Amino acid sequence: MTAIAKISLITGANKGIGLEAARSLGRLGAVVLMGARDGARGEAAVKVLREEGADAHFVQLDVTDVADVAAAARRIDKTYGRLDILVNNAGINVEWPAAKASEVSLEALRTTFETNVCGLVAVTNAMLPLLRRSPEGRIVNVSSEMGIPAWLAGSEMPAITGYSVSKAAVNMLTVLYANELRGTTVKVNACSPGFVATDINRGVGVLTAEQGARVEVAAATLDADGPSGVFLTADGTVPW
Ligand SMILES: NC(=O)c1ccc[n+]([C@@H]2O[C@H](COP(=O)([O-])OP(=O)(O)OC[C@H]3O[C@@H](n4cnc5c(N)ncnc54)[C@H](OP(=O)(O)O)[C@@H]3O)[C@@H](O)[C@H]2O)c1
Repeated sequence: MTAIAKISLITGANKGIGLEAARSLGRLGAVVLMGARDGARGEAAVKVLREEGADAHFVQLDVTDVADVAAAARRIDKTYGRLDILVNNAGINVEWPAAKASEVSLEALRTTFETNVCGLVAVTNAMLPLLRRSPEGRIVNVSSEMGIPAWLAGSEMPAITGYSVSKAAVNMLTVLYANELRGTTVKVNACSPGFVATDINRGVGVLTAEQGARVEVAAATLDADGPSGVFLTADGTVPW
């Protein structure tokens, strides 16, 4: 971390891996803008991190709400004039039980895409002018190996179709944004936190949220010679 505090925005920061990423970035000295769709949950999380000493602030941000997204960008512009780190962490899985491709409901597909894909694009595009003003902008798209065809091909894992397809779209968006931003100081990477016990999987993961957040923070604090347009895990880069 440089002497000047980095300005960071984490979506879905009120709980789970996003909260732990916010906590870690706060400990590194970043200004932590904690996006949450619910005011009470967001403010409660901010209070906890502020009591721990972080420079944390609540940002009303439902990633599916264009008015929230625009207002968040305006506020960050007015207050800081730039954004150094965007962690697109907010995500949902609505398939309970997990649905095979032949059985997935269009409603589940649309709902998942609205948050995991459209929300990510809306937030990224609103924040990009601010990230371009950073000396070293970093965009972290929180994804999953479940969205990498090469990883899933031939697998006997139960399909979670809407979720997998949404994360495949996140992976492709990562490549497209990285290509578009090549030659700038903004790096764009996807990452997977691993299989983490959080509400998204009803607590069945094997890692803690703090462990899962490490790769998000590593991607958010990459040096100037770090990669762009790759998929990062705790064990290194995974081919698309
Ligand atoms: N846990 C895993 O094993 C695992 C593995 C791979 C990838 N991931 C990814 O990691 C990210 C974080 O997930 P998690 O495991 O920490 O799950 P989580 O505990 O369920 O947290 C998800 C967060 O996203 C927020 N969110 C959902 N919809 C939103 C919206 N429309 N606008 C803003 N925020 C919204 C939630 O807010 P509310 O509290 O208001 O619902 C919550 O803060 C997700 O992108 C997920 O796909 C998780």
